[in-house]
Parts: sequence; structure tokens; C-alpha cells
Amino acid sequence: MQSPIKGFSKLSREEKVKVLIEQQQLAPQLANSFSEYIHPEKQHLFNDISENVISNYYLPFSLAPNFLINDELFIVPMVIEESSVVAAASKAAGFWSKNGGFQTKVINTIKNGQIFFTWGGETKQLITYKDEIKKRILSASEGITRKMRERGGGIVDIDFLSIDNMTSTHQALIKFKTADSMGANFINTCLETIAPYLIDFINQHDALNHNDEAKLVMSILSNYTPECLVECKVSCPIEQLSPYAGNYSAFEFAQRFKTAVEIAINDPYRAVTHNKGIFNGIDAVVLATGNDFRAIEAGAQAYASRNGKYASLTSIDVSESEFNYTLTVPLALGTVGGLINTHPLAKAAMEILHQPTAEKLMQIVASAGMANNFGAVASLVTTGIQKGHMKLHLSNVLNALEASKSEKEIAIKHFKDSVVSYSLVESFLNNHRG
Ligand code: MEV
Repeated sequence: MQSPIKGFSKLSREEKVKVLIEQQQLAPQLANSFSEYIHPEKQHLFNDISENVISNYYLPFSLAPNFLINDELFIVPMVIEESSVVAAASKAAGFWSKNGGFQTKVINTIKNGQIFFTWGGETKQLITYKDEIKKRILSASEGITRKMRERGGGIVDIDFLSIDNMTSTHQALIKFKTADSMGANFINTCLETIAPYLIDFINQHDALNHNDEAKLVMSILSNYTPECLVECKVSCPIEQLSPYAGNYSAFEFAQRFKTAVEIAINDPYRAVTHNKGIFNGIDAVVLATGNDFRAIEAGAQAYASRNGKYASLTSIDVSESEFNYTLTVPLALGTVGGLINTHPLAKAAMEILHQPTAEKLMQIVASAGMANNFGAVASLVTTGIQKGHMKLHLSNVLNALEASKSEKEIAIKHFKDSVVSYSLVESFLNNHRG
């Protein structure tokens, strides 16, 4: 067995690659692939984003035009590896731009932080002193919250909650507003500042003092943000849906669409895939704008289970004449700070969107989620998704098979009206190559 590497982070990029190739017995040419994607002038920016950087991982930065959101037209930047996502988002955005656009509203922007502690008393005793404790923590954090308060944010409230199956462990759930920043650093700094004051308050208060005195366990923001919520609606007279209806009447299409959504509301297996289609759009914009897609995913997936069963994030209302479709999703996003300040393309994405506020970005991101989900469900209940999907995937398959420019042209012509699959493309190329 080889011995572990010592001091890897202190090696130069070239040394790291050398160690990698030697220790893992990889092809020496791999070093060229890593060098090829190093930025000639701005590599320092990317090196500073993470640790042990040896190259850059490219993903396409694309644009989805024609997003009409509350009567304002956006071209939306998307970073994603799945070939059909931007095309589906653009098509749906174009369709809805002629049918009233995306109607969005931010319901609230509350984010949460948690301080966990052990203590022999009962949570309900702490609730009695909630106002006094709130006063104490507001004054303890005054210095670090000043700037945020000037921007309209700060600590909003404090609550005490018990924890299932843990009688002597409690939590203070602290509610924040963080203006245009995602707020992770702000919230964590506040929590770590506040926590000792909270513990002292409990231990020094005669009525709360207990043999089993309060001891801090940990303080951290929560990525569950059910009150940082945005809603996105599309509505139109049913007959307007005919461009999406395929071989069905617009009315039949609307009914089929409704059934598909009801399945996703009631069946968790389908709900996960349905919501995945929403996240095709959401994640792509979140990533393009330098936001934390893991936080968004974790929070929104948990929200999808808020009623005790994982379900669709969308709801539907189809009457005799009207189609109304709604997405409600928590999106704790920021438009200042973090990667947005350092990644040149995250900055460019913000410029494309005209430097939106965090609330505006929540509405844009939700619209992208709605566009992709609408396009996916519309395909599923008409032609199926493989037709469009594999057509767009054709160029990936051709690249994987190292097709030349002329082979690509011939293959694209050949597969224009026929079914695409990896093996069909492979045998077509093999035949062509003789
Ligand atoms: C594929 O990336 C996304 C879909 O599976 C979403 C859905 O099934 O609704 C098409």
C-alpha cells in the first residue's frame, strides 16, 4: 500500500499533477488535459476559489431569451451540462411571453439560524423569557448587525424549540433578514456572537438556573428556509395551449397536463423526477449567478416534504376555460458577496440581469424552474421527452465518438427524421467510415 501524501496543498500545481499521476499510476498525457484548461491570465481568480486547484472544469454558459417576468423582459444566463435544458427553457419562455408571461411574487425573505444547547430545564420555560432574551441578543449583536440593519436586514426574531427524542437538548431558532446577500457568513457570525450571551442568560437567571446547566453544542445557519419563499404563476385561456398540444386538442392537453401534475402531487417517485425538472432550470441560473446550489437544493427538497410526504413543488388549477399553473419554492439567494464578487462569469450573469436585487433574482430563478418544468411535463404528456432530448444529445454522442466536422453534418442530416440512440449513431458512423 502506498503511503499517504504529506503537505499536498503546499505543492505547486505541476507538482500536484505529478504526484497524482505517479501515485495513481495514470497516463502522463493527463497532465496536458489539465494544463489545457488553465486560464492564461486570470487563473489566480480560480485558484483562490478552492484548494488544490489543478485545472478548471468547463461547463457551457448559455442564454435563454424571452423571459417575460411581471412585464419585464429578461435574457436569462444558465450554466448546465444537460443539452436540452436551455432549449426547453427558451421555448417555454417564448411561449409564455406571448401569453402573459411569468407572474411572480416574493412571499417572504426570512432565513434561519440555530443555536443548539443542552440544559436540564424545559423549552417552555425559555419561551416565557423570549422577549428579555431577544433584547439581550439584539444588544449583544448590535455592532455586527449595524451595516445589515442599514440595508434593511438584521435579526428579526427568536424562538425556542424542543428537539424530537432529545429531552435535554434545545434550540434557539433565530430569524434573519439579509437584504441582498445570501447571508450565510452574516448569520453564522451573529450566531457565534450571540450564543455565549444566550447561555449566560440561562445560567445566570434565577428562574432558569438548573443543576444541569446550559452548555452550548453548536451554532449554524439552517438551509431550511420555508419562509424565504417565492411564487411563480403562468395562466392562459386553454385554447392558447395548442402549440404545446401535439396531436391532442388544447383542452385534452390541459387535462393530461393536470393529471401529470396530480400524479406528482400524490406519488413521491414521480414527484422527485417532476421536481428534478424544476431544478434543471433553477440550478442552472443559481450556478450562473454564483449562488450556492447545494443550499438551494437542500432547502427546497426539504420544503417539498413539509407536509410529511415528498410532493410536487407545483400546483395546478384547470377550469373549463383557464389553465393556471403555480410553482412555490424557497430560494435563499444573494446578489452581492461570495462568488459573485470574484467569478468573472458570475459577475457577467448579474450584469446580464441588470444587477437584480435578491428578491428579483428569486423571481427570475423561479421562472426558469417553471419554464423547464412546464416544457418537460408538456413533452411527457404529448410526444414523450426522448424525441427532443436525443436530438439535442446527438452532438454529444457525435463528440464522444470523435466524429469529424463532415461526419457530423452527414449524421445530423441522417438523424433529422429518425430515432437517435448512442448505438444507432455509432453503427451509422461505423458504416459511413466503412
Ligand atoms: C430530465 O432532466 C427532467 C425530466 O425527467 C423532468 C420530468 O420528468 O418532469 C424530463
